[in-house]
Amino acid sequence: MNIAFVTGASAGFGTAICRQLITDGYKVIGAARRQDKLSCLAAELGSNFLPIQLDITQKDAVNNVLLTLPIGFKDIDILINNAGLALGMEPAYEANYDDWDTMVHTNIIGLIHLTRIILPTMVARNTGYIINIGSTAGNYPYRGGNVYGATKAFVKQFSANLRTDLFGKKIRVTNIEPGLCGGTEFSNVRFHGDVAQAKAVYDNVDAISAQDIANTISWLVNSPAHFNVNAIEIMPTAQVPAGLAVSKNMQ
Ligand SMILES: NC(=O)c1ccc[n+]([C@@H]2O[C@H](COP(=O)([O-])OP(=O)(O)OC[C@H]3O[C@@H](n4cnc5c(N)ncnc54)[C@H](OP(=O)(O)O)[C@@H]3O)[C@@H](O)[C@H]2O)c1
Repeated sequence: MNIAFVTGASAGFGTAICRQLITDGYKVIGAARRQDKLSCLAAELGSNFLPIQLDITQKDAVNNVLLTLPIGFKDIDILINNAGLALGMEPAYEANYDDWDTMVHTNIIGLIHLTRIILPTMVARNTGYIINIGSTAGNYPYRGGNVYGATKAFVKQFSANLRTDLFGKKIRVTNIEPGLCGGTEFSNVRFHGDVAQAKAVYDNVDAISAQDIANTISWLVNSPAHFNVNAIEIMPTAQVPAGLAVSKNMQ
């Protein structure tokens, strides 16, 4: 039975991905910081799901993550680097620097560190699949997207460079680039718990759902081993890249 390691399993995309992969017949290791959420998911998903408490920004914890896995969950076939966050939407000249620091440490450093720990085990077995969750924010600028978008642009280029380093090996890499997706904690986190501001993002919009992302991942991991989707950009029909803007009568 194939084994998937999913970060950010305690909410949003990650929870939907864990549920879908268990349904598809995979063993799933679900990692996140909140043990209570992971325990609920473990009770729901049964013995093919292994919850592990992991903060991907903690260097020692990531270094030791493989040692903590029990027999039966050690040979990871699929790594889904989903954990990530946006914090704030202020313009760059007003943004909170600690928010920038947290985004860089989670979306970039946590992701590359975990990849660096798990990838050699795939190379040793000459099999594997890494799926990174990027964002349309890494493809198109928007106001207030400053560092968040830049972290996702990093994830896009890192994914492409991984493909290049893995030339000749039976290891696949895909960067998924979602646009506006509702029903997750993403905007609650971004607006530091301001529920009204978070809700307003999705009012009267038919956004994509976490299950849409889980369905996409199900399709990718169940596709044949000779088939690699390098990147896949997904937006709700209601969303388009904004286009160019001109400010008139600037002072
Ligand atoms: N929702 C969207 O519109 C959207 C669009 C494009 C891309 N994305 C990307 O998709 C991914 C998932 O987003 P989502 O909407 O599902 O957000 P979410 O509901 O807020 O879930 C984020 C997950 O990441 C985990 N996480 C955050 N920091 C972590 C850390 N230091 N260590 C381990 N886990 C951590 C959280 O768990 P704990 O708090 O329990 O650690 C949570 O499980 C993110 O990378 C996000 O940037 C989202």
